[in-house]
Amino acid sequence: MGFITMSNLLILIASFLILPSSLAVTDSDSPTAYSILQSYNFPVGILPKGVVSYDLDKSTGRFHAYFNDSCSFNLVGSYQLNYKSVISGYISENKLKKLTGVKVKVLFLWLNIVEVIRNKEEMEFSVGITSANFAIQEFLESPQCGCGFECDDSKSEGFVASS
Ligand SMILES: *[C@@H]1O[C@H](CO)[C@@H](O)[C@H](O)[C@H]1NC(C)=O
Repeated sequence: MGFITMSNLLILIASFLILPSSLAVTDSDSPTAYSILQSYNFPVGILPKGVVSYDLDKSTGRFHAYFNDSCSFNLVGSYQLNYKSVISGYISENKLKKLTGVKVKVLFLWLNIVEVIRNKEEMEFSVGITSANFAIQEFLESPQCGCGFECDDSKSEGFVASS
């Protein structure tokens, strides 16, 4: 009674050997979506704060990034941007293409931003029929959903005059 058979013992040993490697899959020091962007020479500011997870196929550049919710803010005080809770596309050095989930409001129309290209110190956002360029300095920090690039922590309410 109570004998451990050889096969039971082997299963026991095997499960101890397998367990650590399956735990190692959830690696906490994997790079963030923001550092991935930087590794492709993009500024972090083209991605709003709040990415909860992402996936990336390094061989093709295919990616998805996930937010808890959709996200809207104004870009440099002019255009309104909207990010869905899931965005996707293909990333390569200096180029994002076949983007889905990112829209810009131009006049009264919401247009999909389908391509973002970094050209030296400029960022070019293309909606297919036309594109707009912005200085890269505008994107050194990630915007926040809601207040975008113009969040002022010290501001409680009302307008703050600045010149
Ligand atoms: C996303 O939602 C989860 C669950 O509600 C929450 O714990 C987490 O803080 C949220 N993340 C962000 C970035 O808002």
